[in-house]
Amino acid sequence: MAVISDNCPDIDVTLVDKDKNKIDAWNNKDLSKLPIFEPGLKEVISRNRGKNLFFSCEIKQSIQEADMVFISVNTPTKIKGLGAGYASDLKWVESSARLVAEYSEGHTIVVEKSTVPVRTAELIQEILGESKTGINSKNNKTFSVISSPEFLAEGTAIKDLENPDRVLIGGSDKVSMNLLKEIYSRWICNEKILLTNVWSSELSKLIANAFLAQRVSSINSISALCESTGANIHEVVKAIGSDKRIGAKFLSPGPGFGGSCFKKDILNLVYLCRYYKLEETANYWEQVLFINYWQKKRISSLIIEKFFGTVSNKKILILGFSFKCNTNDTRESPAISISKDLIDNGAQLFINDPKVQKEQIEIELEIKEFEVDELSLGSWNFINDLDNVPRNIDAIIVLTEWKEYIGINWEKLCSKMRRPAWIFDTRNIIPKEVIKESNINYWQVGKSL
Ligand code: UDX
Repeated sequence: MAVISDNCPDIDVTLVDKDKNKIDAWNNKDLSKLPIFEPGLKEVISRNRGKNLFFSCEIKQSIQEADMVFISVNTPTKIKGLGAGYASDLKWVESSARLVAEYSEGHTIVVEKSTVPVRTAELIQEILGESKTGINSKNNKTFSVISSPEFLAEGTAIKDLENPDRVLIGGSDKVSMNLLKEIYSRWICNEKILLTNVWSSELSKLIANAFLAQRVSSINSISALCESTGANIHEVVKAIGSDKRIGAKFLSPGPGFGGSCFKKDILNLVYLCRYYKLEETANYWEQVLFINYWQKKRISSLIIEKFFGTVSNKKILILGFSFKCNTNDTRESPAISISKDLIDNGAQLFINDPKVQKEQIEIELEIKEFEVDELSLGSWNFINDLDNVPRNIDAIIVLTEWKEYIGINWEKLCSKMRRPAWIFDTRNIIPKEVIKESNINYWQVGKSL
């Protein structure tokens, strides 16, 4: 929305939330304290906030004044009830639609921006339709529901929004669709703005994420085969990626994919397939998740195996906790399950991340900093400055590909390690020569030792 305000100075954009703390954080004068770290975001906010970009808790008034309302709320996987573990929980979408139904005046275009299961627009339409016939109805209300899913990736969000591969607008009301198209076309060329029916638009978002996740799981499954056979994953990626039909992007092996979308959207897709009795299609896509789970488990297991089955009392430095670089987001980060496995096996972890706060790590690991796990005696603490890494560490595990880690003084860090020591590079970012000279064992994903 901030990028819309940046490109359309004549349009007022108001972001509303009932959580005052969130809104206060977005209104913070100190732009380094915005709730989300995203390259380029603070610049966009500083250019527009208070001019045509506003953050507010005034939900009623903002909806009353709006010609277009974007529903951009969370749609987490349901943890209880019908479809638990697979289907998306639509309670926030539903309650947002009810607010629009209650407060809107005149004609309102409702844009479904959250990633939603197919046919959610129907639900929104139904709720809005009720408001025209219900007891509190004001007859002057009319609505159009259209879908316009978001394809941005974290860490490159502003770039992706400024220069998207495509924008989707799904619906049946051509007038409303063209109004939204007019907004996007201020900075995106018309060829990239695709108009579809509403279900194609909703489904395309799930399928795009499923295909991307499938590439990551495919290459991660092959990384294990490379380690066993002596093939080198990067040579394989180069060889297959040169085929234009396959393409070179999104084929980096790693500790498994994380983030708020891939797992949730595939679970949703699997649920949808099973709903339509397409068991084979459901099973096919579910395998993408199984491989991702397996990749994380196989990495924590192989670390433990390299220490002859015990990491109890071992000091291990974890480099990176966010699910990828250039974001402070830790949702579904592979660092969570790998760290938990090591703590469960008695390791003492020292965790560093350039952007993730220790309070966030505490929430994800479900054990407080310095607290000792009763059964395993494992623990963790945050290391803000790598100069403070204690002596005699046994292992270093690179879990996020932050560029800060490439430039580390590896010689100095290696000198603090107790032999036999291991470095596990799950992102293949450390130059091998640096490590070789230090007489330290080095494991890289997708390469044999
Ligand atoms: C994803 C989609 O890319 C985006 O289009 C959608 O709108 C939201 O979901 P995001 O989750 O922000 O975006 O990050 P992405 O760059 O897709 O990475 C997802 C995960 O896959 C990360 O954990 C990343 O490290 C991993 N990944 C990605 C790999 O391991 N290897 C790759 O080659 C690419």
